[in-house]
Amino acid sequence: MARRILITGAFGQLGEAVIHELQPHFEIIATGKHLPGHFPHNCNTATLDITQRTATRNGVKKIDPDVVVHLASYTDVDGCEKNREKAWQVNVVGTENLIDSVRETPTNFIYISSDYIFDGTSGPYDESAKPSPINYYGKTKLAAENAVRGSGDHWVIFRTIVLYGESSKSDASFVNWVVSSLQARKSITVVDDQWGNPTWTGGIAEAIKMSIVLNIRGIFNYGGSEFLTRFEFARKIAEVFSLDATLISPTTTEALGQTAPRPLRSGLVTDKVEEILGLRTYSTGYCLRKVKEGIVG
Ligand SMILES: NC(=O)c1ccc[n+]([C@@H]2O[C@H](COP(=O)([O-])OP(=O)(O)OC[C@H]3O[C@@H](n4cnc5c(N)ncnc54)[C@H](OP(=O)(O)O)[C@@H]3O)[C@@H](O)[C@H]2O)c1
Repeated sequence: MARRILITGAFGQLGEAVIHELQPHFEIIATGKHLPGHFPHNCNTATLDITQRTATRNGVKKIDPDVVVHLASYTDVDGCEKNREKAWQVNVVGTENLIDSVRETPTNFIYISSDYIFDGTSGPYDESAKPSPINYYGKTKLAAENAVRGSGDHWVIFRTIVLYGESSKSDASFVNWVVSSLQARKSITVVDDQWGNPTWTGGIAEAIKMSIVLNIRGIFNYGGSEFLTRFEFARKIAEVFSLDATLISPTTTEALGQTAPRPLRSGLVTDKVEEILGLRTYSTGYCLRKVKEGIVG
């Protein structure tokens, strides 16, 4: 069984949950572009900027992992639209650098992709749906998927959607933004026409662990069990955190005018992961209560 796991982008939102889930079972080397000031986990850490080809190759070879869990990404969707060169370098070239570093080794490569590879006209999508990204972030995630798929036989791709977790570190966390805004009694507007199944990081971390234990290969969707709009999700957050939901008003994607176009009718069908990994997916209320225990606890 796999023993040594190298995690890229380990100090981001999903990294926190993945380390928490894997650490009791494996030797973990948590890597990131920079080391964090505060790191609560008892595992090895290293700097690894995946855009640096030679340093990445040398760093990965020195660690000699059984599995790479590749989480590192430029995840600011509007930022990717504006800084296309950076988005390509981190999301595509960075992934290619990692693949090259484990080429011709038995190392298993686990890549985290996104529902943003789809155009959002006919979700929820299963694993066989045809990708057609409508923003630059989605294009880079699809190009990275293709690099992984072309790399040989030792890979798993998990596609996931609207991540949220206990991590208070991620500026990108929608839950943190809703909670802190409502706690400050600030009114917020949230789109009511972007659909999906928001995903608790603890759930996908469990799926990643099971994929390592069962040594599976292929593409798997992982998302929460409920399909709802961002506005409905925000109202659920207010309910679970006992905050004032009347501060949340609905708006449309068109009125919000985000820089990058967004897939509207998205969502990921999770039947395959449930069947093959023997996992269940979790309701939004259950996951938000777990997050509340983590943040407020
Ligand atoms: N968040 C979502 O809703 C969502 C949905 C679907 C799929 N995903 C995918 O899930 C994965 C994890 O996302 P997340 O929510 O944990 O994002 P996150 O909190 O933004 O974490 C990504 C991490 O990657 C690091 N990183 C950026 N550039 C790097 C580089 N050149 N070398 C090494 N590390 C680098 C970031 O470090 P810095 O912060 O220092 O730049 C950050 O720690 C990503 O692949 C993302 O595309 C996320």
